[in-house]
Amino acid sequence: MDKVAIESNASAMVAPGKGILAADESSGTIKKRFDKIQLESTFESRRAYRDLLFTAPGAEKYISGVILYDETIRQKSADGRPFPELLASRGILPGIKVDAGAKPLPGFPGETITEGLDGLRERLTEYRGLGARFAKWRAVIDVAAGIPSRCAIEANSDALARYAALCQEASIVPIVEPEVLMDGDHTLERCEEVTDAVLTAVFDALFLHRVHLEGMVLKPNMVIAGKKCAVQGTPQQVADATLRCLRRRVPAAVPGIAFLSGGQSEAQATLHLSLMNRAGAKPWQLSFSYGRALQQSTLDAWRGEAGNVAAAQKSFLRRARLNGLARDGKYDAAMEQAAA
Ligand code: 13P
Repeated sequence: MDKVAIESNASAMVAPGKGILAADESSGTIKKRFDKIQLESTFESRRAYRDLLFTAPGAEKYISGVILYDETIRQKSADGRPFPELLASRGILPGIKVDAGAKPLPGFPGETITEGLDGLRERLTEYRGLGARFAKWRAVIDVAAGIPSRCAIEANSDALARYAALCQEASIVPIVEPEVLMDGDHTLERCEEVTDAVLTAVFDALFLHRVHLEGMVLKPNMVIAGKKCAVQGTPQQVADATLRCLRRRVPAAVPGIAFLSGGQSEAQATLHLSLMNRAGAKPWQLSFSYGRALQQSTLDAWRGEAGNVAAAQKSFLRRARLNGLARDGKYDAAMEQAAA
């Protein structure tokens, strides 16, 4: 393990004013996103869309890293350069999703375990050769009556820790992503209780597996009520509960926390991040690693038309810039109305 390299790359991923673009949608997920804009998902339409994002002028001001999918890390920009090379030339770190997805956890209806550990050591070596400097593994924890079970929490935490240790062995920074879903009708308090238990188990497992905390990035959910819960917390309540939970459970040695957006709207995800960054001293950087909350308006502006690329890139830049402001607590909801 090259400790100096992983520590410096982990810090660069959460550098002030910047955050990570999650563009690692699997083929199934990107198809769902393209279906919404009535666009067929093909090798070329996926390449063209990622090219639009990765060549957006000025994005490097706000984007520190991009998470790629296995297909994408092997694809090229229109000028023939492989995507990882293009990103690196702009000072953006290329990353790679390495889990094989959440599969049903046997014996625990409604719960999942993320797979992908077999052969991971060899895949990490290959991805490093292709330019990846960090990786991502997502564990999914659903909340419902009697769920999550202790088994789902511990099995997923153990897999996350085994993945993180393998990444560091290959001098790749692991993004450790335990996502408590915001589907369902659970309250904000219940989300806090579950997130607290999950983070406790995750850091126990990371300790057991001797993961070097200074060379990783945590990617958690925010503490937020389920989408179907009648009582939604105010933005300030979400920010307060999330910070309270993280302060209790995330060691100060971790350089940064980069939130997932998880189904929040673009404006919600940016506001929550900004409120947290406004809340005084914290031991870690508080950043973003958004998928949907960075791409929704870009996809809507593009709709698969070459003639819309410039407008879509402008839209992406605007979203990235607003999240860059949120990194400093300087975003205001009124900015959503202001012209791009
Ligand atoms: P969302 O921000 O759309 O939740 O995606 C982030 C991500 O990478 C989920 O694994």
